[in-house]
Amino acid sequence: MSKAIQAVRGMNDLLPDTVERWQRIEAIARDVLHAYGYREIRLPIVEKSELFARSIGSLTDIVEKEMYSFEDRSGDNLTLRPEGTAGCVRAGIENGFLHNQIQRLWYAGPMFRHERPQKGRYRQFHQMGVEAFGIDTPDIDAELIFLCARLWRALGLEGLGLQLNSLGTPESRAVYRRELMRYLETQRGNLDEDSLRRMDKNPLRILDSKNPAMQEVIAKAPSLFDHLDDAARAHFEKLGEYLGQAGIAFTVNPRLVRGLDYYTRTVFEWTTDRLGAQSTVCAGGRYDGLVEQLGGKPAPAAGFALGMERLAELLAHQDLGAQPARPQIYLVLLGASAEQQGLVLAERLRDAGLRIECNCGGGGLKAQLKRADRSGAHHALLLGEEEVRNNSVTVKNLRDSETQTQVAQNALIDFLKKMTERGEQP
Ligand code: HAM
Repeated sequence: MSKAIQAVRGMNDLLPDTVERWQRIEAIARDVLHAYGYREIRLPIVEKSELFARSIGSLTDIVEKEMYSFEDRSGDNLTLRPEGTAGCVRAGIENGFLHNQIQRLWYAGPMFRHERPQKGRYRQFHQMGVEAFGIDTPDIDAELIFLCARLWRALGLEGLGLQLNSLGTPESRAVYRRELMRYLETQRGNLDEDSLRRMDKNPLRILDSKNPAMQEVIAKAPSLFDHLDDAARAHFEKLGEYLGQAGIAFTVNPRLVRGLDYYTRTVFEWTTDRLGAQSTVCAGGRYDGLVEQLGGKPAPAAGFALGMERLAELLAHQDLGAQPARPQIYLVLLGASAEQQGLVLAERLRDAGLRIECNCGGGGLKAQLKRADRSGAHHALLLGEEEVRNNSVTVKNLRDSETQTQVAQNALIDFLKKMTERGEQP
């Protein structure tokens, strides 16, 4: 036997049980998004590499070392998208739906980053992302956070903490950057290798270091928050008021800097202590300069994205309600004439709105009942030689082996519907 090929490291198969859980999460999320007027947009997975260098920033970890980039057969430099915001802005400019307009959009799908895989961190992962364009005021920042909070409630998710910061304007950040650099110069001897590397290119990211040995240096660093310009400070305070009014608790974390360069003013992260090191479930903020930076007419914007793998892991033990993908009925077919009639009977029952898994590929009664049990169906319909002869079907309750009833085929749909009305499965 030749060696079996395995999946690419960090890229996981999502098996049906997981997919069904994800679909329930997505359905709940969709309802919440629609309750706020957000509309879905579907974007390409591959974009020109330049898009990400110009938006996420050429000195970020993502662009420097995590992108899946390649030259295609026409010699174009392309990249598997590492996130959704850049593509969404690109699409907005290209399709002309950003200029002087308010747009509330969401998207979902796979993203790709060549990170070191570990629990909660993968090379292909999935996000649901939300972007609001054209609104400059903190009411939309608040609305985005309300939307998250409503989603956590709808999912029955507790224990997520909200961290907030303001990064100010690019101008105020430049002033801060210089001051931070001066401080870090005095600390050179205490910086780890990663921080030394970031020192010249992206010193703000040093504040984000998780290395315990760096925490003292970070704690004593000047605070970005103290360097905010007045407008950014007022914006942040207003957001705090909105959140307070809505009873949403938050912590101001002046060290929260995010790993993408496009943010301005508000940034936030929802974190949990239940997922180990990969604790951020959802993150985002404002990116008022990005539309212009990518060649569009200036338009303010804010948004966030949640990580599906992390969210699903948190919800692994939660009952998210119905499992509509499971069949209600398994149709057992015994003998050639039953097989002959079976597929058509299954079609008739589906026409009546029932979910049927029909036995295909033959097999004896025992084997078929085993499959029926595994299908998750509540009832089996048995069609054998005798039933074919007298135009009937035997209805068998799979969860209570005692109950079995013969029903005439022309009365079957009525029978099954009445069963549903009585609150019994199916
Ligand atoms: P991000 O913080 O890079 O932001 O990613 C958002 C979320 O995606 C993270 O909080 C995490 O839950 C999930 N995530 C990121 N990388 C991985 C990974 N390797 N494996 C598993 N999950 C991961 C953005 O992507 C921004 N585009 C968010 C945004 C939208 N900002 C404004 N609008």
